[in-house]
Amino acid sequence: MAHSRAAGSAALHTPTDLSADATSAVTEVLNPLVADAFALYVKTKNFHWHVTGPHFRDYHLLLDEQGDQIFAMTDMLAERVRKIGGNTLRSIGHITKLKRIVDNDDGGQQVVHRQHARSARRRVAPQRRGDDEPTRSFYRRDREAHLVSV
Ligand SMILES: [Fe+2]
Repeated sequence: MAHSRAAGSAALHTPTDLSADATSAVTEVLNPLVADAFALYVKTKNFHWHVTGPHFRDYHLLLDEQGDQIFAMTDMLAERVRKIGGNTLRSIGHITKLKRIVDNDDGGQQVVHRQHARSARRRVAPQRRGDDEPTRSFYRRDREAHLVSV
C-alpha cells in the first residue's frame, strides 16, 4: 500500500512506495542536480548575453532556447524531490553549497554541458539499479537532452 514518507522538517505528505531511506537517497542525488542545473542556466544566459561575432543571432537564439530548457529542468527535478516527500533547494546560498559545476566564465558551453551530463550520470547511477522508475525515467530524458545540446 502506498504511504507518505517524511524527509526533513517540511515533509510533503504525498503517496510514495519508496522507503524513508530510499527517499533520502534520491533526495541527496537530485538536489545537487537541481543546483547544477541552476548554475548551468546562469552560465547559458551569460553566453546568450555575451556572445559576439558573425553568427551572433544564431548563437544568441540557440543559447536562449537552451537556457529555457535548462530552467524547465530545475522545476522538474525539484518537484520530483517534493513529490517523494523530500525537501529541495531554498536559496541561492543553498545552490552555491550543493552545485558541482565550477564557475569558469571564460569557458565554452560544450565543456559546461559535458560537465553537467557527466555529473548527472555519476549521481543517478545508483538509482538506475533501484526501484525509483520516475527518477530513472527523468534521468534518461535529461541525458537525451544533453546529448542533443552537446
Ligand atoms: Fe534574451
